[in-house]
Amino acid sequence: AAAQKGGYPSFMAKEIHEQAGAVADTLLGRLSDGSLQLDEMDIDPSVLRSVDKIVVVACGTAANAGEVAKYAIEHWCRIPTEVELAHEFRYRDPVVTEKTLVVAISQSGETMDTLMAVRHAREQGAKVVAICNTRGSTIPRESDAALYLHVGPEIAVASTKAYLGQIAACYLLGLFLAQVRGNLYPDEIAALMADLEQIPDQIQQVLDNSGQIEQLAADMQDANSVLFLGRHVGYPTAMEGALKLKEIAYIHAEGFAAGELKHGPIALVEEGQPVFVIVPSPHGRHSLHSKVVSNIQEVRARGARTLVIAEEGDDAVLPYADEVIRVPATRTLFAALLTVIPLQIFSCELATAKGLDVDQPRNLAKSVTVE
Ligand code: AGP
Repeated sequence: AAAQKGGYPSFMAKEIHEQAGAVADTLLGRLSDGSLQLDEMDIDPSVLRSVDKIVVVACGTAANAGEVAKYAIEHWCRIPTEVELAHEFRYRDPVVTEKTLVVAISQSGETMDTLMAVRHAREQGAKVVAICNTRGSTIPRESDAALYLHVGPEIAVASTKAYLGQIAACYLLGLFLAQVRGNLYPDEIAALMADLEQIPDQIQQVLDNSGQIEQLAADMQDANSVLFLGRHVGYPTAMEGALKLKEIAYIHAEGFAAGELKHGPIALVEEGQPVFVIVPSPHGRHSLHSKVVSNIQEVRARGARTLVIAEEGDDAVLPYADEVIRVPATRTLFAALLTVIPLQIFSCELATAKGLDVDQPRNLAKSVTVE
């Protein structure tokens, strides 16, 4: 097993460090003659043009990837998009028609909750696209089309490289829909793809700079509560950061939409409370960036220890950050592929430092094949 871990202390650490190549593989070979080709998407383009609603169904980390997808798909395609935990979707009599496109995201392709949602959607006449990692698994077999991540097998129970692959695949799906439906011009799609193709190198830069976050994790072994805040795609990133910490380090953690703070959660903040804040690019929408900077200030003023993930050169965060973790500059939407990485490393290192079984956390299975 040690050899299979390639010199890393755990499969999770290995899989985190494989993420640049993983995302490159998800993106590989999708552009030809300037247009996006998703060969697996063999759903009639006229059906894709008639879609009036998208529902993403998934569980856990895959559902967090779906939340990122919502921001991208609505922005590029102008199709109302909702994300629902698969086990909730199935039992609430959801509105699904032949014009609904259901996107089922599942690393394993065997998650029973997600499979039941897929079956329910198809019974209502919806088309289902599966975004999966495992070839030949049940969910893609039972779907109308399947988009594969190509990130290689994921062994650790805590999902990392599949999460990045799922987000990248969702971007491809969103851009493909925008292309088919004519929401974006070909040169806009090409420009977005060009920026997306920079991401693997940028992931590698984040991984090469992991020393700071490793040190932070080693110092925080005794933490018993950690909060995560973000807005826009930083919100699902915050949720994912909290999920990782719960599942492998057994530390109480919560992710919040930063704007929700003043509606309740800020009451939790007391002296010394660690709070990670995911800051959007200062070069994106100015109001979004400045609102998150204000949120850092608000929790800091109440005694929080602020651990800030911000773009290189973003100096506006400096006065309010106890620690700044830098990520390379990219589009606001694509930052979801970068800002989560320090959070994955944080959980992995902290759980390792605590002597826990990082790859096989208690009470959890890699794939949940019961409802
Ligand atoms: C991720 O770290 C979790 N172990 C879990 O939330 C997982 O993402 C979820 O069970 C869904 O699994 P799937 O992608 O195989 O369907």
